[in-house]
Amino acid sequence: MRIAVPLFFGVALSSVLPNIQEALILEEDQLLNSKRPLRFGDINFLHTTDTHGWLSGHKVQKTYSGDWGDFVSFSEHLRNLTAENGQDLILVDSGDRHDGNGLSDATSPNGLISTPIFKRQHYDIVSIGNHELYLWENTQQELDVLVPSLTDKYVCSNVEFLRDGKYYPIGLKYRYFTTPVQKKRILAFSFLFDFARANDKTRVTPIEKVIEEDWFKTVLSHFPLREVDVILVVGHLPVDKNVGEVRILHQVLRKQYPDLPIQYFGGHSHIRDFQVYDEKLTALQSGRFCETVGFLGLNTSSDSLDVKQRFFRSYIDFNVDSFQFHTGISSTEEFNTKNGLSIKDELISARRNLKLDVVIGKVTKSNYYMDYVPLSHPQSIYNMLTSKVLPTLEPEQNKTELQTERMIIINTGSIRYDLYKGPYTVDSHFIVSPFQNDWVRLTVPKDVAKKIVPILNQRSYIVSRLLPPHHRYLEEEDYGFDSSEFGTEDQSENFSKKLSKGYVTEDDFGKEGDDTPHKAVKNFKITNVVASEQLDPDSKDSQVDVIFYSFLTQNVKGALKRLGYPSDEPELYSRKYLGMLLDDFAATNEL
Ligand SMILES: *[C@@H]1O[C@H](CO)[C@@H](O)[C@H](O)[C@H]1NC(C)=O
Ligand SMILES: *[C@@H]1O[C@H](CO)[C@@H](O)[C@H](O)[C@H]1NC(C)=O
Ligand SMILES: *[C@@H]1O[C@H](CO)[C@@H](O)[C@H](O)[C@H]1NC(C)=O
Ligand SMILES: *[C@@H]1O[C@H](CO)[C@@H](O)[C@H](O)[C@H]1NC(C)=O
Ligand SMILES: [Zn+2]
Ligand SMILES: [Zn+2]
Repeated sequence: MRIAVPLFFGVALSSVLPNIQEALILEEDQLLNSKRPLRFGDINFLHTTDTHGWLSGHKVQKTYSGDWGDFVSFSEHLRNLTAENGQDLILVDSGDRHDGNGLSDATSPNGLISTPIFKRQHYDIVSIGNHELYLWENTQQELDVLVPSLTDKYVCSNVEFLRDGKYYPIGLKYRYFTTPVQKKRILAFSFLFDFARANDKTRVTPIEKVIEEDWFKTVLSHFPLREVDVILVVGHLPVDKNVGEVRILHQVLRKQYPDLPIQYFGGHSHIRDFQVYDEKLTALQSGRFCETVGFLGLNTSSDSLDVKQRFFRSYIDFNVDSFQFHTGISSTEEFNTKNGLSIKDELISARRNLKLDVVIGKVTKSNYYMDYVPLSHPQSIYNMLTSKVLPTLEPEQNKTELQTERMIIINTGSIRYDLYKGPYTVDSHFIVSPFQNDWVRLTVPKDVAKKIVPILNQRSYIVSRLLPPHHRYLEEEDYGFDSSEFGTEDQSENFSKKLSKGYVTEDDFGKEGDDTPHKAVKNFKITNVVASEQLDPDSKDSQVDVIFYSFLTQNVKGALKRLGYPSDEPELYSRKYLGMLLDDFAATNEL
């Protein structure tokens, strides 16, 4: 069917499709798939961050169904395309490659299979995230697998490891290189946020200290303004100016290199974001979990461009449609490169060996979301867990010592991802709730028990690690209004209905950054903890068992202290952690 676009879709369209002038008449399918093209500079970047093992793509979400092989094919085409136009393409990754998906987490050590697959992408700068630092075995894997193959492309400016009583950088502390096409000279650093929980064979020096260190000052004086064209910082920290340690770095770099283009790539808080620091400095953050490839075009050729003419950013949805669109290739045969295809094969056999697609149950009734609906909504995963799954928790200990009433508390960060309709597989377990914590119990009077959750949900706990990562840095006002119903349409209703749900990012350049227009999902506010209550409304003065992950012990004891109720150490209740409860529930019930 041929349709006249403006009549059919009304006023909202022009803001959604910037290239509408060239395309007044479109095939309907073509229109619904309409994407915003990339805008290139003479130096261009592709950015991944917080991939967390999702290299085989999202099996039940088409929007993010591309895999690592597709991404590698895409990058190779894009590199050649830019080269043909006399431009460079630089690939960067800013860390957190473990903990999120069965592909990385079903092996021991974790990353055993996924890290060698990750490494097959031809990156120019790779940096470290906190998830490479919790356990020494993961740091060691970086040193054994990634550093030797990436050599000078593995950059860590503020993370070191201990060997024979001495600290050494993981990879290089900085990289100075010349781009192959444009011969631009790039000075690159890579910083991790001030992370306090690194394993004891590594150490992280906060940015504010690094900038005072001799090596850093020496590098800056060794590469004066006239010998650098672009400064690049690939960091594992949010790019937001309000939370940014980046700001401290920014002051130093700007002082040393007035007027030089500087580009930051960040991560860790799992969001899409783009921030303008000054006319020649912007910062891009490219989401999480292989949902996004960040693109940045930089025009270095003129001094007098304003920021919107110099920098172009795009958040590319991680799927083959998007990848083919941006490379102008329509056939799959042509699109798949030799390396890309071989990675796809490797992913298939890795999943088979790890039995990731073994079906445990089925999710048929609905999708269950972490925050696209309010907590009380039937489609809230927390609502489903507290009303259906947590009540199945059985005590391991002698039942005669237990109370008949109980309350089970989980922190919302104990869920990692939404649960989508489709097969519930071994992989779903790793994706949704793999954390192997013990349940513990404290017995307190009911009136005290009822006050614990409200205290844990007070604002002072907001930046704690109880929340999922993409909520930890949000200010109260950043949330969507939590009173509106799921599915509420905006004015562009008739247009949005045709679009898939997904990111509609608003950043310092506006709302046109996502390469694919989506029907916006709203992120509702979620609390630090939620509870499943099995209380008897008729009994007033009873004792209640309060059950929670041992991980929350300090928080719960803190809350009790504030209530003036001194508590003992909690006792073990069960080792059957949330993910196992969910597996068993999915195997025997309709979800
Ligand atoms: C960069 O900007 C200059 C000045 O506007 C322009 O002539 C040039 O074509 C731009 N380069 C790219 C790659 O777009
Ligand atoms: C990209 O360019 C290289 C070098 O010219 C070539 O070997 C390779 O086949 C090209 N890849 C694609 C996908 O066109
Ligand atoms: C459970 O506890 C009761 C009372 O303390 C005790 O009599 C009983 O032997 C215990 N049973 C087991 C299996 O430990
Ligand atoms: C959507 O379409 C319906 C039926 O075609 C129409 O009545 C309604 O006014 C449209 N809504 C908007 C917001 O354009
Ligand atoms: Zn992360
Ligand atoms: Zn992180």
